[in-house]
Parts: sequence; structure tokens; C-alpha cells
Amino acid sequence: MEFSSHFKGLEQDIKDLVIASFTDSEGSDEGELIGELVRNVLSDTAPDDIQVFLARAGDELVGAAVFTRLTYPDDHRVVFLLSPMVVATRWQGKAVGQRLLTHALDSLREGGVDVAITYGDPAFYGKVGFKPLSQSIARPPLPLSQPEGWIGQSLTKEPLAALSGTSFCVAALNDPSFW
Ligand SMILES: CC(C)(COP(=O)(O)OP(=O)(O)OC[C@H]1O[C@@H](n2cnc3c(N)ncnc32)[C@H](O)[C@@H]1OP(=O)(O)O)[C@@H](O)C(=O)NCCC(=O)NCCS
Repeated sequence: MEFSSHFKGLEQDIKDLVIASFTDSEGSDEGELIGELVRNVLSDTAPDDIQVFLARAGDELVGAAVFTRLTYPDDHRVVFLLSPMVVATRWQGKAVGQRLLTHALDSLREGGVDVAITYGDPAFYGKVGFKPLSQSIARPPLPLSQPEGWIGQSLTKEPLAALSGTSFCVAALNDPSFW
């Protein structure tokens, strides 16, 4: 398994992976929705506000983890949000997701990111250190339909202290249907 963080020129491959995997797990409507989401995130987000981590097996793209900046204007810490995250269907359950995220989180930490947050299944993300977040510790940018999926972790030696004030996500994620 090889990991990389260069995604320019691979946007269509990433979108195809997202559509195929989410269609298999959640149905075609969700596949199309998340496929469109990832296309917009990859094309519309400023370079400083996005970091993408990819897993490959030979020529095959088998996993993608897309992080974008979550801005807390009243707080000095650097926060990135993981969404979406995907592993190719036939590669699922083989620890690709955990290995890709471990690589991604180490890389973000080395790059000075203080906090990683995501909105997903704690049973999976808990395996790589994400823990439930109360909305008083980290205000989500939009109302959450499933608050139990709001999870995060400190990437520094300090425990995660409350992030000050409100937050805003990148434009492509600023849609209530994703939250
Ligand atoms: C969720 C996903 C990214 C996990 O990647 P993966 O490579 O299959 O996961 P791993 O093999 O590293 O880890 C799987 C472990 O997490 C657990 N787990 C909990 N919830 C899970 C879930 N929704 N999907 C997969 N595994 C889950 C498994 O039981 C397994 O535990 P075990 O190793 O003790 O048996 C992948 O299955 C996927 O792309 N699913 C479809 C799209 C999706 O749901 N994306 C995430 C949206 S929040």
C-alpha cells in the first residue's frame, strides 16, 4: 500500500471511487450526492484549505481521505475537518481505512494542524483516536442531524480544550443536507 497527498489530475478518479463505494454501501442517491460533494470540494477549495490523502495498491486507487479547513475565527488553533472518507468496496475491512487515516493524521500533525474533526461513525473513527465531541467543545458550522457523529481529537500533546466561538466550513460543505 502506498500513500500520497497529491490529488491534482486525480479528481475524476477520486469522484468515481466515492460514487462506487457509497453507492454500494448507501445506495445510488447517496453515491451521487457524495460524488458531487467531493467534486465540488476538490474543485472549489483554495489550496491552503484542503489536504487530500490517497491510498494506492499498484495503479489502483483504493482509498481517499479529504480534509478541509474548519475555521474558528475566535480561536488561534488550526482545525481540519475530514469529509468525505472512502475505501473501495473490495478493499474494505482490511485496515486500509485505519492505515490511511493514521498516515493522514501524522502528516497533518507534522504540518501544524492542532485539531482534527469529522462527522461519521464513531465505531470506525474511534479506532484512530476520534472521540465524541460536545457542541460546547467545538461548535459545528451547521446544525447536526446526528450529533452523536460529531467526533474529534487533538493532534498536539495538549488535550482538546474548548474551541472558542462559532465555526465555518469551506463553501462546498456549507449545505445543510450534508449535516
Ligand atoms: C468506513 C470505511 C472508510 C472504513 O474503511 P475500511 O478500510 O473498511 O476500515 P478498516 O478495515 O480500517 O477498519 C474496519 C474496522 O472498523 C469497524 N467499523 C465500524 N464501523 C464501520 C463502518 N461503518 N465501516 C467499516 N468499518 C467499520 C469494523 O468493525 C472494523 O473493526 P475490526 O478491525 O475490529 O473488525 C469504508 O468501509 C468505507 O469507505 N465505507 C463506505 C463509505 C463510508 O461509509 N464512508 C465513511 C462515511 S462516515
